[in-house]
Formats: sequence, C-alpha cells, structure tokens
Amino acid sequence: MSLKPAVILLLLLTGGACARRKAAAPPAPQPAAAETAAQPAAAEAPSAPPEPPLPYELRLGRAVYRHYCATCHGETGAGDGFNAFNLDPRPKDLSDPALQKAKSDADLIDAVRRGGAGVGLSPLMPPWARTLTAVQIEQVVGYIRTFRK
Ligand code: HEC
Repeated sequence: MSLKPAVILLLLLTGGACARRKAAAPPAPQPAAAETAAQPAAAEAPSAPPEPPLPYELRLGRAVYRHYCATCHGETGAGDGFNAFNLDPRPKDLSDPALQKAKSDADLIDAVRRGGAGVGLSPLMPPWARTLTAVQIEQVVGYIRTFRK
C-alpha cells in the first residue's frame, strides 16, 4: 500500500530530472550561429545596384521593355539579351551615347513601330505597331532614353 506514494515520488523525480536534462541540453546555438553568419552575405548580394525611382510613364515603358524587348536587347539595352546570339546583326548597344544622339525620338519610335524591315535595318527587329499601342511605344522609347550612359 505504501508503494503507491513511492511510485508517484519516483515519477515526479525522474520527470523533473528529464525536464532539467532537456533544459540543460541546448547545444543547438551552433547551427543557429552558422545561419546568422550566412545572412549578411545573402543580404549583400542583391543590394548591388540600387535602382533609382522612375517616374510612372517610364515604369510603364520599362514593363513593356522587359516583357517584349529585353530578350534580344538585354536588360540594360546593351544588345546582350539571351536571344541575341541568334541575331545577325546583333542589336546595337542602345545605351551607346553616339546612337542615342544620332537617333531622334521619332526615329526610335518609327523603328519600333515598323520594325527593322520598315526602316532599312535588320528584319530581325520585329514591327510592334500591331502589338503595342502608340502610347506604349512612346513609353518604351522613353525608357530606352534612360539607358544613356
Ligand atoms: C527578336 C529580337 C528583337 C526584339 C524582341 C526586339 N528587337 Fe529591337 N532590334 C533587334 C535587332 C536585331 C535590331 C538591330 C537592327 C539593325 O541594326 O539592323 C533592333 C533594333 C532596334 C532599334 C533601332 C536601333 C537603331 O539602331 O536605330 C530600336 C529602337 C529597337 N530595336 C527597339 C526595340 C524595342 C522597343 C523592342 C520591344 C518592343 C524591341 N526592339 C524588340 C532585335 C529585336
């Protein structure tokens, strides 16, 4: 009969010991420390070029450009899009100050509207007048103007 309190006492003791062992056994800060050490490097990577805020019209132009044009012309207009290797001649560097100076907005708009074949350039530059509105073409040319080095 006196066994019951003894068992309860034993359970309490071992339970308490277990809890104490758990509390006293946190050798886990090492992986946690490794994670925090890896964090600054991950945070540094994308912070390289802080994009300057663009006005609304240019943001619309950028969206068109990234969707339709960057495949060939490249994100920065350098003519190095992933499809550029297929093109002969390659698209010129749209950020080249000489090109930017030589071409008026009307020239660039015309080339985008009618395509290379329409303006005596390579037919591999597609015509966009049926895909984009006149306003979108103005906006994308406005965005191309931001490529000026
Ligand atoms: C399939 C590839 C391709 C796509 C997509 C493309 N282009 Fe082109 N683009 C070219 C090529 C190639 C040339 C160069 C033609 C040449 O120099 O003979 C060119 C030339 C141009 C030019 C004329 C530059 C100059 O020398 O006067 C402009 C402006 C231009 N592209 C804008 C755009 C815009 C804006 C878009 C998106 C709406 C676009 N391109 C999409 C291939 C492409």
